[in-house]
Amino acid sequence: MGNIYTSMKIFHYKDKVDSLPKDDESILAPLHIRIKPINGCNHRCRYCAYREDSLQLGKDMQVSDSIPKAKMMEITEDIIDMGVKAVTFSGGGEPLFYPHLEDVLHRLVDSSVKFATLTNGGLLKGKIAELFALHGSWVRVSMDGWDNESYTRYRGVADGEYDAILENIAAFKKFGGPCRLGVSYIVDKENANHVFEAAQRVKDMGGDSVKISPCILENEGAKNNAYHKQIWDVAREQIDRVLYCGAITIGNYKRENKKKKGQIFEIERLKRNTSRIWCRLWLRLQHRQPEPGASDSQIKIKSQTK
Ligand SMILES: C[S@@+](CC[C@H](N)C(=O)[O-])C[C@H]1O[C@@H](n2cnc3c(N)ncnc32)[C@H](O)[C@@H]1O
Ligand code: SF4
Repeated sequence: MGNIYTSMKIFHYKDKVDSLPKDDESILAPLHIRIKPINGCNHRCRYCAYREDSLQLGKDMQVSDSIPKAKMMEITEDIIDMGVKAVTFSGGGEPLFYPHLEDVLHRLVDSSVKFATLTNGGLLKGKIAELFALHGSWVRVSMDGWDNESYTRYRGVADGEYDAILENIAAFKKFGGPCRLGVSYIVDKENANHVFEAAQRVKDMGGDSVKISPCILENEGAKNNAYHKQIWDVAREQIDRVLYCGAITIGNYKRENKKKKGQIFEIERLKRNTSRIWCRLWLRLQHRQPEPGASDSQIKIKSQTK
């Protein structure tokens, strides 16, 4: 599989690019649309940018807003008629908390429009999970804690929710459909030392990938950078453990600007958004047996002495 996070994807759609500068109203439909169907959520993440008045995203947020069903079905028909290629559901709030999502998905399944979602994973079960697993392109579950206790602290949810979500991930993969199941791991001071542990749990449950990103705590990039600078060494050591543990290796790991022989994992460092010190790191996990002799403790020593 190629790099699924490439910013060059647009160039696969030459007809769309060619249509952009014209004045003759022949502009083509958007390739991709992101829909935030509801602002309500079943979790209360303490860092949620949409719930924090001091952050740009949270400023004008009305938690009670959601798209009425009739409007949502109209939007869905428009998307299909216009020839939009793909839809991602996001928030705002929690897309799977939207009561009409199943109706929307049934309609999309009968069309050529691809679909994907970000989710906290708590409601990723039953019919909705099956629809995504069998017909979706990808599902990305957001996480932060590394066990029940820490997860509950981060999210204000009942004890046991972390285990329940890991079970949802495992059950999702058992549907056996083509949909990729990834986890988006948001890192701050509290969990920087637990990235390896968390990624390992995801892998054990059958997850396909982990995207590791810094938590955004301020509107100004410089302040975010200053915060993340304090935990970068710890987080990087954790990421190195993920990368060097033998079960998970890397392909074009650009931190040192060289491809390491025999490595099959992909990690990409993209310079964008607010954090230049800690650029976003994407890891694509693959299910490989550890290399002979590559024990976790050896790996740790190796990464510390680099
Ligand atoms: C707002 S959520 C909406 C979808 C869904 N409720 C979820 O949590 O995946 C979209 C994404 O934003 C991320 N997010 C929210 N607040 C953030 C913050 N302060 N810094 C970094 N990522 C954040 C979440 O982890 C999630 O991956
Ligand atoms: S689950 Fe998503 S929308 Fe809900 S509080 Fe957490 S980050 Fe925000």
